[in-house]
Amino acid sequence: SFCKIIRNRAQFIARSCKEVRDVYGPSEDGLYSLTTATGVDWTLVASVHEDNIYWKCTIGDRWTSQQGNNANWPKGEGNWANRKTFGTVEAATDDDFKNPGYYDIDAEDMSVWHVPNKTPFYHWNLAAIMRYHTERRFLHLYGGNLYYLFNRYPVEYNVGNHLSDNGPSIPIVYDLWDKESTKMFYGPNTRGETRGETEGGFVSFRAINYERAATAICSGVKPKGGEVEHYCIGGGGFFLEGNPLQCGDFTGFAWNGYGTHEGWSAFIFH
Ligand code: G3P
Ligand code: CA
Repeated sequence: SFCKIIRNRAQFIARSCKEVRDVYGPSEDGLYSLTTATGVDWTLVASVHEDNIYWKCTIGDRWTSQQGNNANWPKGEGNWANRKTFGTVEAATDDDFKNPGYYDIDAEDMSVWHVPNKTPFYHWNLAAIMRYHTERRFLHLYGGNLYYLFNRYPVEYNVGNHLSDNGPSIPIVYDLWDKESTKMFYGPNTRGETRGETEGGFVSFRAINYERAATAICSGVKPKGGEVEHYCIGGGGFFLEGNPLQCGDFTGFAWNGYGTHEGWSAFIFH
């Protein structure tokens, strides 16, 4: 397909790549904005892909560190707050992806889809296990995109304390699943009666754990404690506990085995 969805302020507006071709002609290769019947448009700016959860902060962990778990590398790759780009839309379920929209777009809201690895582009919608979006135009408050948000809340080891220095938690509207199923998705310990680590119905940013490691996004939940490494993804370059077992794009999601859904381990979703 020749039509890449990159910006929401592109020269051309259409509802599909087919419409782009029909209206603007096949020679108009380039960047297009796709819109829905109601005029709401969404642009894929990033994907966080786990290629091997057993390799801790090695090649492929672009949203944490590809150079190991190291307190002297507190920001890790720094990709949450820089202009580096990588990957392609088509391969966003096979590899990490980040395009110029991540730092260049002036957006209001955010939508998140959890899509199993290797799902082809055209099946993302049906294959997704969870989909949701925000509706409060929260990005206006944080610079209009994730680049500015994460420059304000650096994803960096040792920048603050759990809970008190966390970034914002924004209420979400579910397109698929709900608050309760979101909580069930993460390891049983995260919703234990004594720990009560998560509240469903939010997307949260720059959550810090008990050991002062920073994570980037807690998808579907708001942290209520400091065990965020089991339900928040991405991070800086150092996770003290279990060194290096919690370092990686999916942090400590496999702490009690991969996909076991025991202890702190999340359901499998590859
Ligand atoms: O991150 C989990 C750790 O802090 C506690 O692990 O095995 O004592 O439940 P565990
Ligand atoms: Ca912990």
